Amino acid sequence: MQIGPYKLSNQLVLAPMAGVTDRPFRQLCKRLGAGMAVSEMVSSNSLLWGSEKTKRRANHDGETDPRSVQIMGAEPKLMAEAARYNADNGAQIIDINMGCPAKKVCNVAAGSALLQDEGLVGKILDAVVGAVDIPVTLKIRTGWDTEHRNGVRIGHIAESAGIQALAVHGRTRACAYRGNAEYDTIAAIKAAIGIPVIANGDITTPERAKMVLDYTQADAVMIGRAAQGRPWIFREIDHYLQTGEKLPEPTLAEVRGILLEHLDNLYAFYGEYAGVRIARKHISWYSKGQRHGAAFRQAVNKVETIEEQLQITKDFFDKLVLRQGNKLGFSWSVSVQGKALLAANGRRPLQEEQRSHGR
Ligand SMILES: Cc1cc2nc3c(=O)[nH]c(=O)nc-3n(C[C@H](O)[C@H](O)[C@H](O)COP(=O)(O)O)c2cc1C
Repeated sequence: MQIGPYKLSNQLVLAPMAGVTDRPFRQLCKRLGAGMAVSEMVSSNSLLWGSEKTKRRANHDGETDPRSVQIMGAEPKLMAEAARYNADNGAQIIDINMGCPAKKVCNVAAGSALLQDEGLVGKILDAVVGAVDIPVTLKIRTGWDTEHRNGVRIGHIAESAGIQALAVHGRTRACAYRGNAEYDTIAAIKAAIGIPVIANGDITTPERAKMVLDYTQADAVMIGRAAQGRPWIFREIDHYLQTGEKLPEPTLAEVRGILLEHLDNLYAFYGEYAGVRIARKHISWYSKGQRHGAAFRQAVNKVETIEEQLQITKDFFDKLVLRQGNKLGFSWSVSVQGKALLAANGRRPLQEEQRSHGR
């Protein structure tokens, strides 16, 4: 897929997710097979640009091309300024968010709430496209609610404004995240316009990705929640699309390695205080479905230093790796000090005061 001068290496895009798709996660997903990764959104409110949070969101040091940054707002002039600010700070593609249903977004009539006002959509797109000389993309939902699926009309507005690719989440704004994503509207939008369309919503497996690409004829798929704790999903889908065969699941040793690399990058990017806190949700996603995962998450959420967080995480994954290697059980427990102590291969934990979580 081509977006302006950028030819993506494949048809796979990491969805923008506020609080998730920071630079460390984007880099990891790109390394593991995402052709593009859209950053968390940056507000069009310039008062926020000086804040640590916004500056971090606009930080692309060392990030591989293309660097796409999402902006959000409802005022054409402010959106144009936000686009220019991000272009000046290293963005190579500007993505406009008209897909987010979050309350605080919709209260200021931004995000997917804008889909109700097609005139304003046109004005915003014209202003942003006119403000920068880099490609501008748009992310929408299929419509305002199930009675008003105006995605095709928005697609035409986008194409005439000079938008270079359109990502469509197969739900309406009113659907929030309920029900299943539907792909008929995405197929209709793709059939109606000439710019690349990226299909999004509930793509969780290689088979589903292929089905959605075939069904909608979209140029690419965008993956959000299914990449949380599973950044290797991109290489799995890529391999399946290329060969029709499924890659084996990564071993727990590889998962351990990917997670530790991810943690190191989070600590380096955020520093200890924020890094440890942001890492908690990622650690929890990586450990989902693993034996003793709940007890592990409870423990890891309590510690506050890099050293402790790394120690508990390494210990837990070491035991999982060992168990995968020799197929034996293990018990996992946490001392009152919050230090993880693990007993492998059926041996009991070492301290009496520990809460044991069985095997
Ligand atoms: C935690 C979270 C944060 C999100 N933040 C954004 C955002 O900032 N901008 C946006 O356009 N969409 C945002 N989304 C929506 C996703 O980009 C995507 O459209 C949605 O999750 C559906 O895709 P999925 O089923 O693959 O997760 C967010 C979704 C989640 C789960």
